[in-house]
Amino acid sequence: MLSVAVLISGTGSNLRALLDAAADPDYPARVVVVGADREAEGFAHAEEYGIPTFMVPYAQFESREEWGAELGAQLAVWQPDLVVLSGLMRLLPAALVDEWSPRIINTHPAYLPEFPGAHGVRDALAAGVDQTGASVILVDTGVDSGPILAQERVPVLAGDDEHTLHERIKPVERRLLIDVVRRIATGDLDLAAQAASRAPAP
Ligand code: GAR
Repeated sequence: MLSVAVLISGTGSNLRALLDAAADPDYPARVVVVGADREAEGFAHAEEYGIPTFMVPYAQFESREEWGAELGAQLAVWQPDLVVLSGLMRLLPAALVDEWSPRIINTHPAYLPEFPGAHGVRDALAAGVDQTGASVILVDTGVDSGPILAQERVPVLAGDDEHTLHERIKPVERRLLIDVVRRIATGDLDLAAQAASRAPAP
């Protein structure tokens, strides 16, 4: 059984979907802890399932590095097999990524490498594209630049605003996330091999 820590900043709808999936005894992963960088609405989903939570408030640290060190210490308590960034709206410091790589994945509401960053949905709308998408990637030290593990296109419809488009993307993200975590748990998806495929030549 793959143990998973999920890090969030907001509503945690993707977290909720993973928790619901993991409630099925046949699903090969379990969420063991949920962490956030702020008082996140999504904690309610974890509490409903009786899953422990922790908060490492970004604002209370002098630097990203110090915040990341405390986040790493909290994660170490739970020793998860996998860390899922599910709407964590903070860039992790390189030291933390290096420590957990290749066992950290991230969901993103765009078809990467298109529209990376904190405003993937807004940026796609601003660019006037007629399709965007959802991606699940391996986290590296860049901004949404890690190897792509799964992705799918989502149409942009006339009259879409950031909210309507994001709400159309999220169900796709959820499906991709649940499937990627399942494939990691069963060994069908080898994160070390994915990471190596990106490693610079010696
Ligand atoms: C999701 O769409 C996730 O991909 C996105 O935030 C949303 C969180 O929703 N993450 C990013 O944009 C990271 N760059 P949720 O809190 O309802 O799961």
